[in-house]
Amino acid sequence: MLKGTYCVLDDEQDFLTVAAGEFKKFLPDMKGVFTTDPDEAITLARKDKPVIFIIDIVLGGKKGMEIYQRISAISKKVRVIFITGDENFINNDDIRNQILLEGSIDLMQKPIKWHELAIKVKNNMQLLLYQCNLEDIIAERTQQLIHADRLATVGTMVSSIIHEISSPLTFIKANQEMCKYAVGNAKKVTENKEVLSIFDRLIIPSVDESMKGVERIEELLNSFRRFYKRDDLVSEVDFTELIAEVKNLTYYNIKRSNINFIIEVAKSTPKKITCKKQELIQVITNVVNNAVDAFEEKAVFNGEKELKIVVSGSDSTVNIVVSNNGPEIPQYVMERIFEPFFTTKTAEKGTGLGLAISRQILKFMGGTIYVENKSKKHPTVDFIITIPINYNA
Ligand SMILES: Nc1ncnc2c1ncn2[C@@H]1O[C@H](COP(=O)(O)OP(=O)(O)O)[C@@H](O)[C@H]1O
Ligand SMILES: [Mg+2]
Repeated sequence: MLKGTYCVLDDEQDFLTVAAGEFKKFLPDMKGVFTTDPDEAITLARKDKPVIFIIDIVLGGKKGMEIYQRISAISKKVRVIFITGDENFINNDDIRNQILLEGSIDLMQKPIKWHELAIKVKNNMQLLLYQCNLEDIIAERTQQLIHADRLATVGTMVSSIIHEISSPLTFIKANQEMCKYAVGNAKKVTENKEVLSIFDRLIIPSVDESMKGVERIEELLNSFRRFYKRDDLVSEVDFTELIAEVKNLTYYNIKRSNINFIIEVAKSTPKKITCKKQELIQVITNVVNNAVDAFEEKAVFNGEKELKIVVSGSDSTVNIVVSNNGPEIPQYVMERIFEPFFTTKTAEKGTGLGLAISRQILKFMGGTIYVENKSKKHPTVDFIITIPINYNA
């Protein structure tokens, strides 16, 4: 069934009856409307769906051309083929050209060659549908770009927040050290047991704990800072450090979702690889964060959420498998999962860019990424990443 409708508008009911029979023969798989009422044609245009109008150019009191002008002002998804029994129109080049200049597909003479008209309706409907489809895609992409741009703005804001947090952190750290130093000195000059006990039980442990907290924040900020750096150069990277960095960046997401996070690094894993470190971190972080999101979609098998990174290697490659026991990926998602802007998440959560960019990054490195629903006793979704040890872009 070809989508879209055609509408024949003519003031002669007999003509419409013949038209209905002929179109049924030549265009059996398209929906048609046959009417003598211009208002019905206008109502049809208001639906803003693709319609090809076949309009008699001399329509009783109202001219066919005027009606088409009204229709095309209402909807951009309409086209027209004019028809006429009046030889003055057909033989007058000026009128013919005027009609075509107005954007009509054709001016056909009665008696109508029905087969030819049907072919013109069908061909033009296919073009119209193609155009409507492209317009829909462009509108959707524009929305997605606006969203991606907004996220980029958030990224810029995050980097200034990192900067803002770093400064007070410096004096918080200095004050804590000073506090510890002061308590140390005070302990030397007092023998008051109660005071000493307050120092040892309360003040020193609290300051130590705060210092650990500050160190944790610093570590996190440094990870973010490195992640944001633009000049990601090819260098020799310690793989254990790289995984530790991924852990830093995903730590809070994983902790908040109460996920059992397991990292296994096989003995076969090369200690060092040559790559663009931050880009590789970006890829693994993306895949890990996706797995965290996946747990939120549905109740998970036996309630125990597990996210596992298994790293192994050979002489020439490192293989990273990120698997989670969240819901299986449906076929329609599988088909489009690496497409830019494809997402099943809400606008706040997803851009649909993560995997598309990850695949691109890996391609530059000479690596690959693919996904599998692993059906075993405890099914998992596995993302398999392979990277050459030597960057070969
Ligand atoms: N581990 C996973 N389990 C289930 N679905 C996933 C997983 N990883 C990715 N997906 C699906 O792939 C889509 C695209 O992912 P991605 O490109 O990272 O974009 P985003 O995360 O912004 O949606 C997600 O919206 C989700 O539907
Ligand atoms: Mg993602």
